[in-house]
Amino acid sequence: MKTTTKINLLTTAWLICILFVTNVFVFFSFMKITVDMEKEAAFRKAHEIIEANRAPNSISLPRDLLESYLTDHSFIRVVNPHAKVIIEVTNDRYLSKIKAKFVTKNESQLRKMREEQVLLVRIPISSPRHVIGTLEIGERLMGLEMRKDILLSILTVCSVIAVFLSLLGGKWLSNVIMHPISSMITSMKEIEQSGVLKPILIQNNMPDELQKMAMTFNRMIERLQENLEKQKRFVSDASHELKTPLTVIKSYADLLKRRGVQNEAMVQEAIETIYLEATRMQKMAEALLDLAASEKESILEVEPVNLISALSHILRQLQTVYARPIRLHYSQNPIMAEVDELKMKQVMIILLDNAIKYSQDPIDVFLEQREKYVIIRIKDYGIGIPKEDIKHVFERFYRVDKSRSRETGGTGLGLSIAQNIVRQHRGEIHIDSELGKGTEVKLLIPISPRCNENNRG
Ligand SMILES: Nc1ncnc2c1ncn2[C@@H]1O[C@H](COP(=O)(O)OP(=O)(O)OP(=O)(O)O)[C@@H](O)[C@H]1O
Ligand SMILES: [Mg+2]
Repeated sequence: MKTTTKINLLTTAWLICILFVTNVFVFFSFMKITVDMEKEAAFRKAHEIIEANRAPNSISLPRDLLESYLTDHSFIRVVNPHAKVIIEVTNDRYLSKIKAKFVTKNESQLRKMREEQVLLVRIPISSPRHVIGTLEIGERLMGLEMRKDILLSILTVCSVIAVFLSLLGGKWLSNVIMHPISSMITSMKEIEQSGVLKPILIQNNMPDELQKMAMTFNRMIERLQENLEKQKRFVSDASHELKTPLTVIKSYADLLKRRGVQNEAMVQEAIETIYLEATRMQKMAEALLDLAASEKESILEVEPVNLISALSHILRQLQTVYARPIRLHYSQNPIMAEVDELKMKQVMIILLDNAIKYSQDPIDVFLEQREKYVIIRIKDYGIGIPKEDIKHVFERFYRVDKSRSRETGGTGLGLSIAQNIVRQHRGEIHIDSELGKGTEVKLLIPISPRCNENNRG
């Protein structure tokens, strides 16, 4: 069943329930109020008759007095304590058949006679000492049945009109709600069939929730588009980067094939180059694997780590390998943070590797603890990065000076990997550099990834 039909039927069924309850309430309230009013009028009339009696201690009320109060289809009679009618005036012979009754206090009764309601009221006639008789008034409630029928017809007609209007309104309302959903479904189908990711048109007259839904969908499409773009760029960059060493290897292999191995110098050069390029390719393949791993969000193994001891360990290793002094400066010990130790070490190696590669002098590493962050700065006094290149160095395969990087063996992936890992820790990485003077890379690592998450709200 279509959602619109379902909404329509449900609202109408609900309306019918409400109408039924209100109609029953209106009907019975109307009947009760009408009968109560009639009763009140009859009692008033009875009291007036007794008060008009000039012989107060007697039950022989004058006939003309009773007749003056007689209305259509009614009777008025006086009953003695033995339930015998003493005087009766009437203009409806059927009503006279009602049995007389002696009462000592006010009494009223509604009874049905020949499809009509008859109202009976009885009030006692008293002497100073005791009750000496009863004044009985009986009236056919002629209009009541008719009014009841009219009321029922009005209620029925109004209910039918309300149900009809509700069906119409429900259809209109569900169309208003469903129209944007239907157009969203059409857009989604188009995307599915064409494979082209495009956003849904958000109209101002859409309900809020649907606007939010469409906005979420569009954001998702945007992210998918970005990822697709990234993937395409990555594949083309990677293949381009791998093509260069392969071309060099192939041309030297060609040369060897054509010229043979007689020319020793040439053979030596070819082997040397092939070896270097193959090593570069191997490095690149490893870096690509690292990059892919750093992009997986879920694999952080976070634990409290003393960054000073972790860093000292790496610095010692690098100093030994590269024979370059690296000075560690810190304000307090320990400086603790919840990080994935192996991954943070990888970041530090990438950054220190750059500092060593692109400078000659000793390198400084500073560690500071702030309220929610640990700040790590790696400062070298080397060649620096031109201003216009700084914003690009985090891009994959980006190298400021390609020929220089060839010498240093760089793939241009190091900073991308470092940035991914730092972002996974919900931290930040910034580069500040001046050409010819040196470079400072600043890391802001939250003490706890959770504390930073709260901080960002
Ligand atoms: N400390 C630095 N001083 C000068 N230039 C730098 C420094 N760090 C990075 N760069 C520049 O940024 C570029 C990108 O750095 P990145 O670490 O991503 O790649 P890479 O060092 O060339 O290769 P690898 O993948 O082996 O690290 C480098 O090629 C270099 O030109
Ligand atoms: Mg590097």
